[in-house]
Amino acid sequence: MKSLQAVRGMNDILPGDTWQWHALESVVREVLNQYGYNEIRMPILEKTELFKRSVGEVTDIVEKETYSFADRNNEDLTLRPEGTAGCMRAGIENGLFHNQTQRLWYMGPMFRHERPQKGRYRQFHQVGVEAIGFAGAEIDAEMLLLCQRLWQRLGMAEDVRLELNSLGSAATRQPYRDALVKYFKQHESTLDEDSVRRLDRNPMRILDSKNPEMQAVIAGAPQLSDYWDDEAREHFTQLCNLLDGLGVAYQVNPRLVRGLDYYDYTVFEWVTDQLGAQGTVCAGGRYNGLVAQLGGRDTPAVGFALGVERLLELLPEATRANMAAPSPWCYCIAMDDAGQESVMRISETLRQAYPERIIMTHCGGGSPKSKFKRADKSGAELAIVIGSEELADASVSLKWLREEREQERISQANLVQYLAKI
Ligand code: HAM
Repeated sequence: MKSLQAVRGMNDILPGDTWQWHALESVVREVLNQYGYNEIRMPILEKTELFKRSVGEVTDIVEKETYSFADRNNEDLTLRPEGTAGCMRAGIENGLFHNQTQRLWYMGPMFRHERPQKGRYRQFHQVGVEAIGFAGAEIDAEMLLLCQRLWQRLGMAEDVRLELNSLGSAATRQPYRDALVKYFKQHESTLDEDSVRRLDRNPMRILDSKNPEMQAVIAGAPQLSDYWDDEAREHFTQLCNLLDGLGVAYQVNPRLVRGLDYYDYTVFEWVTDQLGAQGTVCAGGRYNGLVAQLGGRDTPAVGFALGVERLLELLPEATRANMAAPSPWCYCIAMDDAGQESVMRISETLRQAYPERIIMTHCGGGSPKSKFKRADKSGAELAIVIGSEELADASVSLKWLREEREQERISQANLVQYLAKI
């Protein structure tokens, strides 16, 4: 029978790789804890309406990338393409934003029906970070410091750079949009197919085009910053001043817009040149209007998400080397069936005494030779062996697998104490 395969663009994360995921996740957790963020876990499925109202109906994500379906009750549901919408929905629904600020994070799979390629998958993983209830630029700066600390902890600070822009307030975006449409309509003959499609629906995304032939016409387009109001200008200046003072390097990119509709004011991306076309490892910005748009009170917020697969891809060798699967300390073997219960009891005693150590017990029988081969292959330092003699006098034999050292015979009663001295 033909064997089945995973859905295209959805990857198994295999046992050889999960240790790296764990290590990365634990560094991320540590850094988030340092800044006082609390984890929130939302469902993976949400009502389709949520993403239409937040990410935006005419964005690429909602228009052509969501996994949406009617469930058995004919309810329109969508596998989350991102986490901000669900996080805000959960916060509003559970009263987390009433008269209080929140620093929240989440981690997990997201789903977008994009064309799969290296660094772009249909199921991918994000760590999302959201700060709700803070209007000032200092929290934007703190978030970027947090990112920078994370890159430093992962040994990759040199591999990413920060691009920054402000979209201005929602109120000033409409006049800017109108000016942009007017300008691009005047140059319609030079636009590529994608941009013509975007012209009426999402003209700001034209600025984001990677098509080299579009760059000249984009360069002549009206500048967002000419449309900022005083508040937007002040917010952005404050942020830049803080970053300058705190030593966070950035480049203002006046063409940086984002593919989701909810942003206003600050937007940013951490990008790398090392991952080809999928060079954005982390991206986010302010979304001061979103909570109200989803039915909550008017609440400012800012956040970002990083792509875990892209981050893992970018990790330098030195960091990766510290994230390998740990080897067992002891591999415990009964030479025959009679010793099996004893060897399992001894293994439990060792696990009780050394909770951080890996103690493996041989299972599945086999010849003595094959048992030692398995012990060696496990990477363990030490084989603990019970044969008929050891069984008879309640001892074990210690066989060192990685160093030249005489085999030893120790009474079972003294084993924990003896190993503690080594
Ligand atoms: P986003 O820019 O759509 O933002 O995604 C954030 C990051 O997720 C990207 O920079 C990238 O690293 C990763 N990513 C996105 N799509 C894929 C894919 N198909 N395969 C692999 N990685 C991918 C958001 O999702 C916003 N919710 C971020 C945010 C949080 N803004 C405010 N708060």
